[in-house]
Amino acid sequence: MATLRVLARVALPSTTRGRFGAAVGVPGRLLSTTTAGAKPLPMFSMEGKVCLVTGAARGLGYEFCRAFVSSGCTSLAVLDLVEADARASAEELKTYAKEFNGDTELNAVGIECDVSSEVSVQNAFADTLKTFGRVDAVVASAGIVHNHSAFDYPVDRLKRLYDINVHGAFFTAREAAKAMIPQGGGAVVLIASMSANIVNVPQLQTPYNASKAAVKHMASSLAVEWAKQGVRVNVLSPGYMQTKLLKTVLSHDTELKKTWESLTPMGRLGNPEDLAGAIVYLCSDASKFMTGSEIRVDGGYCSV
Ligand SMILES: NC(=O)c1ccc[n+]([C@@H]2O[C@H](COP(=O)([O-])OP(=O)(O)OC[C@H]3O[C@@H](n4cnc5c(N)ncnc54)[C@H](O)[C@@H]3O)[C@@H](O)[C@H]2O)c1
Repeated sequence: MATLRVLARVALPSTTRGRFGAAVGVPGRLLSTTTAGAKPLPMFSMEGKVCLVTGAARGLGYEFCRAFVSSGCTSLAVLDLVEADARASAEELKTYAKEFNGDTELNAVGIECDVSSEVSVQNAFADTLKTFGRVDAVVASAGIVHNHSAFDYPVDRLKRLYDINVHGAFFTAREAAKAMIPQGGGAVVLIASMSANIVNVPQLQTPYNASKAAVKHMASSLAVEWAKQGVRVNVLSPGYMQTKLLKTVLSHDTELKKTWESLTPMGRLGNPEDLAGAIVYLCSDASKFMTGSEIRVDGGYCSV
């Protein structure tokens, strides 16, 4: 019982105020302090780890970068389609790191990378290794979605979606493993979706759902292939997360927002920072015996 009480003190968030005076749990701010004197388990720390995130200029990819910085990461590769966007986000993350970590400098580089091109992914990993010498945690977040009925789906869009969502995740994981195996291992996280497990309604998006199911099984398969070489591959599957982009879309369609909320047992859509704990867990030593697994963060959506 005494042990349980100590663990609870370590794990539970504070109900008071965080390090910079913001209330704990307020969307937009990731806080590192817990109850007075309590510290997160050291195995959750990203200190000393080189992290790389694809699709990181905005949306969930950007939020994953913030979660790493908040957990002590000081070496970060921010990959996205347009170099200027990747670089701008790397600069924003440096500012965030200063505000969050005080004196600790963040070395963040913005790198152009189209994940649908194997050569582009290889070049981005080469740049990352040239800058940091290694890579410990890789998140494949780049992904797209279209809404068309199966009969109306244009073939070029269908192929582009699979090139990015499926082949892009594969190229990213493969380059990650090539870099990680000689250094003794690392963590790869593929961002799938609750759509890997359920069929979203009312919007039509069959190829997206199938692409995310493919990503989920790809992770299990690669996990088995690389398990003995120290490369762990897991999946993070978000439910509906209110990124800036989604907020804009839903502001024009309040009915759709209400429908999605009503289908989610917790009665709300997720905030991107609701994924911070899960991504840090999967990329840190806290999950070192976990591979080929999926964490769903969906407000209970897949449970009904
Ligand atoms: N937002 C959600 O509700 C939600 C839910 C479940 C799963 N997901 C998944 O999370 C991931 C991120 O989604 P998001 O909501 O942040 O999307 P987003 O559109 O906000 O961001 C996606 C990022 O990927 C980049 N990108 C697009 N094509 C690329 C390419 N070919 N190469 C490199 N980068 C590319 C974009 O430039 C953008 O910065 C996707 O895989 C998505 O399927 C999102």
